[in-house]
Amino acid sequence: MQEVTLRQPDDWHVHLRDGSVLEAVLPYTARQFGRAIIMPNLSTPVTTPSQAASYRRRILQALPEDANTARFMPLMTAYLTDDIQVGDLVEGFQDGVFHAAKLYPANATTNSSHGVTDIKKLAPVFRKMQEIGMPLLIHGEVTNPDVDIFDREAIFIRDVLKPLINEFSGLKVVLEHITTQQSVDFIRSMEGRVGATITAHHLIINRNAMFQGGLRPHHYCLPVAKREEHRLALREAATSGHPAFFLGTDTAPHPVGAKEMDCGCAGIFSALSALELYAQVFEEENALDKLEGFASLHGPAFYGLKANEGLVTLVKQDWQVPEHLDIPDGQQIRPFQAGETLRWKLL
Ligand code: NCD
Ligand code: ZN
Repeated sequence: MQEVTLRQPDDWHVHLRDGSVLEAVLPYTARQFGRAIIMPNLSTPVTTPSQAASYRRRILQALPEDANTARFMPLMTAYLTDDIQVGDLVEGFQDGVFHAAKLYPANATTNSSHGVTDIKKLAPVFRKMQEIGMPLLIHGEVTNPDVDIFDREAIFIRDVLKPLINEFSGLKVVLEHITTQQSVDFIRSMEGRVGATITAHHLIINRNAMFQGGLRPHHYCLPVAKREEHRLALREAATSGHPAFFLGTDTAPHPVGAKEMDCGCAGIFSALSALELYAQVFEEENALDKLEGFASLHGPAFYGLKANEGLVTLVKQDWQVPEHLDIPDGQQIRPFQAGETLRWKLL
């Protein structure tokens, strides 16, 4: 096959940041995707409808003025903290400002220090979200430093997620950026009640990539990439056509200097070539016919939205991922697969 045409896809997990980084990275997400679920982990987390509305305005103002990106719709989320105001969530959701709320266990990942310290204490919040149909998006890792970092997702499912789902049987939940066979098995067992996003990079690299010939900070993200058997399980899930699995890049830009240091940030910037990377994976799995479901249909169906009307076309054409993206102040962001040749190109 030399060409694939799909309904305009959406990205159900994106970090756009703010200010000059937002301006630099937004065009790449907006060029590829109709809508995106925008993560609220700014340095001051987005917790109120007015913060979300003004962040949404900044995103819309940062959109380049061209027809290819002008239709982009950011879907905002609320950042759950220990003292999140239920009234704010309800108001934001009912006004269409919030599309979901994001649960970061405190200190699980980048900019999560304001996250939730005791999930049990949020029971009233989850009850209300369940009642109004507001989706709960979860960073599914335990934060206990005694738990091996490669086991944190699986232990989270066992000790936190399963009890939560049992208690709130009507709550709409998305387990974000899944990285393990255990997550795949769990999502399948939930028969559509729980969705999961899958990143392009977790379909492409396993944990060896972080240590290939030396320490490779640009392959470090959270949840951290796992063993090869887990990567294969994710590939099988993404390309299976199962409606609970959908596209979420978790593109998470950091300046090179913040990654190449003694204690570098977690996050992989994949917005530059996201769809192309997914297309390559689906082709390798002989499943290009399943790409549209994963990228354009399952996500909207889960969120109760219509699929986009427009179409995008990918063609079989080699191109090289740039080494760097320049951002102001002489800084740069290094894209995932920098310098590598990709086989698919978005027209
Ligand atoms: C994300 C970031 O940089 O904001 N980093 C990451 O490794 N994925 C946070 C997150 O989604 O965990
Ligand atoms: Zn993320």
